[in-house]
Amino acid sequence: MIQFEERPGILDLSWGHPRPDLLPVREWAAAGAGLDWRALTYGADAGPPALLEALGGVGRTFVTGGTSHGLALLTQVLAAPGDVVLVDSPTYHLAFPILTDRGLRPVHAPEGLAPDALRALIRACRPRFLYLVPTFGNPTGRSLPPDRRRELIEVARQEGILLVEDDTYRELVYDGVAPQALWEVAGGGPVVRLGSFAKTVAPGLRLGWINAEPEIITRLVRLGYVHSGGGVNHATAVTMAGFLADGAFGRHLVALRGEYRTQRNALVDALRERIAGVESPAGGWFLWVPLPVGVEADGLLPIAEEHGVSFVPGTRFWADGSGGRDRIRLSFSHLPAADLMRAAGRLADAVAAAVHKR
Ligand SMILES: Cc1ncc(COP(=O)(O)O)c(C=O)c1O
Repeated sequence: MIQFEERPGILDLSWGHPRPDLLPVREWAAAGAGLDWRALTYGADAGPPALLEALGGVGRTFVTGGTSHGLALLTQVLAAPGDVVLVDSPTYHLAFPILTDRGLRPVHAPEGLAPDALRALIRACRPRFLYLVPTFGNPTGRSLPPDRRRELIEVARQEGILLVEDDTYRELVYDGVAPQALWEVAGGGPVVRLGSFAKTVAPGLRLGWINAEPEIITRLVRLGYVHSGGGVNHATAVTMAGFLADGAFGRHLVALRGEYRTQRNALVDALRERIAGVESPAGGWFLWVPLPVGVEADGLLPIAEEHGVSFVPGTRFWADGSGGRDRIRLSFSHLPAADLMRAAGRLADAVAAAVHKR
């Protein structure tokens, strides 16, 4: 019934899923209770206007079935099979099959999105767009610095390339405020922004949105299946409009930030007692943990599982697997603080065993 697989004896830090008891079951049911027939008919093409207004405005917003769906739709309207697309490295690994399903060819962008190297690469391979997760990224938890955001937008404007900004984690901020979205900094094009309610409310809703210039929104609205079937996930979108309007979303978000901050601190503090170089991300769900010299992420995985803990090896986050051998991604979203602390101890034991084996 659910995507998560329980593995007895393993504290699994590989899943970027919410902690189940933080899903707002009662609040969501309450938001749906007062709806009438309009929630159950075919919906307006781009989404219900009340939700569009809340998410960036009618004409510049299109409701999707989540970020993954939004990216799949963009591959259809922005690119054709055989086209090159640039991907940040490392980046969200499950974006790669979405791109290749459409026959696109992912090519790594230069490290840190250095402007000169990026410009040269764009000229060399004429990509259709650059996909990146610039805020509380998956897998690193890091954010692109403000200066680099401005430089990136300038390169995109000059070279005539779109930036597809996956902004799935923006709302989950634990220290200070989230950096301004590329979409905000640029004031629209050349950025297309993907948002989602999967992390802030519930992944099972399959609800998100795209912010883009009207010309791209028009292409989305004209897709055959939207014309045939109406707005995407209409009943859920209408319910979300109410959930936002009566303040339930805002209250839930405040509570979530507190819970995930506690979980982040628990895992970071416990790891720092035994592993060097652990960063504390200001938002999102992930730690990008460096391994001691000579310990490889893929080789560590079976040892870690023998010790009762799991993670995702860093290599998965490069489209061609060429980087990340010395990194692992840990998610602190799914397990409560006490389990995260136990998981950290098991992981440190596994790393020590791997160092010993070298
Ligand atoms: C960076 C990133 N983008 C997209 C997704 C998937 O989002 P959605 O559930 O809205 O399709 C995830 C989930 O792990 C993610 O980490």
